[in-house]
Amino acid sequence: MSTDKKNANGQAPKHALQSQPPPPRPSRRWYWKLLATAICLSFVAYHVTTQPEHVSPQTYALCSKEGQRIYTVDENNTSVECIVVHGARIADSGDLKYVLERAENTTGLSSIPVRYAPKGSIVLPGLSDSHCHILEYGASRQIPLSEGKTMKETVTFVREYIKANPDIEGDKSRFIEGWGWDHASWDVEEMPSSEDLEADSAIAGRPVILQSRDGHAIWVSKRTLEHNAPYPDTVEGGVIMRDEVGNPTGVFVDSAQDLITRPVLSTEDLERRFRRTVQDAHAVGLVSLHDAGLKPESLAFFKRQSEKGPLPLRIYGMTYFDEYGSYWGDSVSPFAGAADERLSARSVKIFADGALRTGGAALWEPYSDNPSTNGVMRISAEVLNKVIPRFLKDGWQVNVHAIGDRANAIVLDAFEHALKGVNVSALRPRLEHAQILTKSDMVRLGKLGVIASIQPTHVISDMWYAQDRLGPERVKELYAFRGILDSGARITLGSDFPVDEINPLKGFYAAITRVSTDGTSPHGPNGWFPDQRLTRLEALRGMTIDPAYASFTEQSLGSLIPGKRADYVILSQDIMSVALDKIMDTKVLATALDGHVVYGRL
Ligand SMILES: *[C@@H]1O[C@H](CO)[C@@H](O)[C@H](O)[C@H]1NC(C)=O
Ligand SMILES: *[C@@H]1O[C@H](CO)[C@@H](O)[C@H](O)[C@H]1NC(C)=O
Ligand SMILES: *[C@@H]1O[C@H](CO)[C@@H](O)[C@H](O)[C@H]1NC(C)=O
Ligand SMILES: *[C@@H]1O[C@H](CO)[C@@H](O)[C@H](O)[C@H]1NC(C)=O
Repeated sequence: MSTDKKNANGQAPKHALQSQPPPPRPSRRWYWKLLATAICLSFVAYHVTTQPEHVSPQTYALCSKEGQRIYTVDENNTSVECIVVHGARIADSGDLKYVLERAENTTGLSSIPVRYAPKGSIVLPGLSDSHCHILEYGASRQIPLSEGKTMKETVTFVREYIKANPDIEGDKSRFIEGWGWDHASWDVEEMPSSEDLEADSAIAGRPVILQSRDGHAIWVSKRTLEHNAPYPDTVEGGVIMRDEVGNPTGVFVDSAQDLITRPVLSTEDLERRFRRTVQDAHAVGLVSLHDAGLKPESLAFFKRQSEKGPLPLRIYGMTYFDEYGSYWGDSVSPFAGAADERLSARSVKIFADGALRTGGAALWEPYSDNPSTNGVMRISAEVLNKVIPRFLKDGWQVNVHAIGDRANAIVLDAFEHALKGVNVSALRPRLEHAQILTKSDMVRLGKLGVIASIQPTHVISDMWYAQDRLGPERVKELYAFRGILDSGARITLGSDFPVDEINPLKGFYAAITRVSTDGTSPHGPNGWFPDQRLTRLEALRGMTIDPAYASFTEQSLGSLIPGKRADYVILSQDIMSVALDKIMDTKVLATALDGHVVYGRL
């Protein structure tokens, strides 16, 4: 019935492990314990919201000397010469003369300093990523596994990490976790094994867990393998890789990953990961991140951090729902806007199917290059129909990972049912990925008012193999962004980092060109299915005001209009007009959150 089950004897799934979602699933052994912690900590959130707003004393006008180069992304897509920042918010906007005349009225100060954006630059609202994995990204940057060109080199990176961290080197019991290996990009495409890690003297004997780039598999060391033994013969929805005589080799695919107990991370580990993500996010202009699979321990960590001081960016969390666990929507309270609108956890993330590259996306018809399967539903229609209305009723936004046309249809059925007679703009359900939709489901998406949360960089990652997988007709329904918009549906853009790159400019570029960064595509330099390109304005809105709407924050975030928070980014050149092949040369000159520059300078 399912590819995964078929492969439960230990054969690699046909298109094993390349780019694409879901994030690793938290070990269920820890899940409930940590959920309990999260429940306790949710009381803390109420406390945090009652603290006074973090107000910057500063007031200034931010202006362009070259005319209206501040893109406000208001409802009329207006550009202005200046915005006035007063404390954490925007007090006014317009021409320099106009805002200075009004300064006393808008800020209470008779004169305000004027800061100019550098020559050639533009100002945009601070950018958002609507679908990403915050701490997992930080983990992925610690050991550069994704850069390994061979299995040996990948192992060497683990060795170097140990050598570079004396505290870890000196303590053989310390867990080593990495993310990002991709055997499909090695010189020889073969599955690694625990022996490959054991062969390195610096690694031998240590507990190691290395997550694959797409999050669909883990590669563990001998010690970890032994520690978690014995193993069942088969696992539903997963694969235990085995050698010729049937012994596990140290690679666990999909739900078999849950057989390996994850270490409980120390606060220092989590802080190190978070710092890294924050640093990289600010450097690419991101201020607002929708975490698409918040684990209870991650949420608890973010809450602890926000008590120490303002979080360095805005986190909008989708709490992971375990389809094998029980319903928790009535025992945990959703919360929004805590800690100066920097922390919210008011949505739930449900997985409907797997990923296209690995053959896990649930399709109506079999895969064109593997007719023995049409993918796997991770959750039944029955469970979806049961939990979606409950979560909505209990105040949760429901965001469902759906990639294949069958998965999207089944989820839309459930939404259609759950949304009967209710106000959809009060609930704003989302399809995460919404990759392959039949024409009629696109129409349904628009009619229902369900938001399509899409990842343009996946287009240029996947366009090279997609037609093999789907065939010449069905492939037209993959990443059909124009079709989705024409159906009247709302979109919101993300990258799925660390699955794809964190840089939102790459998503902007991919959305409007549908060519890779070297200017090529399977359909030539004009783009892969160029009719499906977004306009620059659509892409800009998809990274600013649309994510604000998709996270219920359009009243305070996502555009540079008076009353909203002063989150902005200054780019070195005008991405709204520069030649397409120059877009990727754009530099982020400054990123500001609540009026404070957190990266670069002004
Ligand atoms: C947008 O344009 C319309 C028509 O000119 C105008 O009525 C409306 O006030 C404008 N909205 C904003 C926010 O400026
Ligand atoms: C602003 O831009 C978006 C995206 O192109 C467009 O749909 C919308 O109609 C524009 N708004 C106005 C008032 O022109
Ligand atoms: C400032 O506000 C006062 C009182 O509302 C008003 O009379 C005056 O015209 C305003 N000044 C400017 C420059 O808008
Ligand atoms: C639907 O919900 C939105 C957002 O909460 C609200 O602004 C709107 O007034 C509601 N519409 C109706 C008909 O209740």
